[in-house]
Amino acid sequence: IIDINMGCPAKKVCNKWAGSALMQDEPLAVAIAAAVVQACAPHGVPVTLKMRTGWCDAARNAVTLARAFEGVGVQMLTVHGRTREQGYKGEAEYDTIAAVKAAVRVPVVANGDITSPHKAADVLRATGADAVMIGRAAQGRPWVFREVAHYLATGELLAPPLVAEVRRVLLDHLADHYTLYGEFTGVRSARKHIGWYVQGLPGGEDFRAHMNTLEDADAQLAAVAQFFEGIARTTDRMPAPDASEQRQHQQQKGKTAGLAA
Ligand SMILES: Cc1cc2nc3c(=O)[nH]c(=O)nc-3n(C[C@H](O)[C@H](O)[C@H](O)COP(=O)(O)O)c2cc1C
Repeated sequence: IIDINMGCPAKKVCNKWAGSALMQDEPLAVAIAAAVVQACAPHGVPVTLKMRTGWCDAARNAVTLARAFEGVGVQMLTVHGRTREQGYKGEAEYDTIAAVKAAVRVPVVANGDITSPHKAADVLRATGADAVMIGRAAQGRPWVFREVAHYLATGELLAPPLVAEVRRVLLDHLADHYTLYGEFTGVRSARKHIGWYVQGLPGGEDFRAHMNTLEDADAQLAAVAQFFEGIARTTDRMPAPDASEQRQHQQQKGKTAGLAA
């Protein structure tokens, strides 16, 4: 599959007329989609496309574009229920996604702020979409997909994962991460992922602060293993995230984002 990204809001992307910036120039956006479909067709590669609801509130053109993309052979559309102007602020809205679904025959995937099995079911109901896409809620919680799939299939919520399983999943994730990025960069870029896994867990915030001081893979892996072994001594299954720990994490993240901006 080739999935064309017309949803990215990043300035450095939009300044080059890529990502969601293309939604402002409908003829160009559709011409690009048509060219990609034509180039992929001889190879039997389907082309799909992801977009936002529009560039800004005054230009919510996802429905117009969806029809045009379908017309040039795009085989599936994903819509994030925010405009470019919104970035990641406010809440995703699903009315525009419902309107897109009603306007085309190709499968439509609803995206934005889906954080739980119940929310996934609500969004599917509200939009009539064929599927949901989950982004940030999977950070540090990759089992969210099986939780959603199970709920949609059975109407029942799965028990939280075993602490031992999460320990294993994170250690495997880290091993893959170091392989992909190399140890020096990998250890540093893994910190935010580890932070997501321990977010809201008892002692998670202190652990995160300590873990951020570790500089090699062995030390990082050992610290993660030890942290989850500590949790496993008090409970078999992952505890519900603690609100005050989560708040601390958000505040810390806010400070980091402020520094990076
Ligand atoms: C750090 C980050 C990187 C992203 N990178 C991509 C990307 O490369 N391609 C893409 O189509 N969407 C990308 N997205 C957007 C997500 O796919 C998704 O549309 C958005 O986060 C809203 O969904 P959510 O509320 O489930 O996170 C990214 C989002 C974040 C937060």
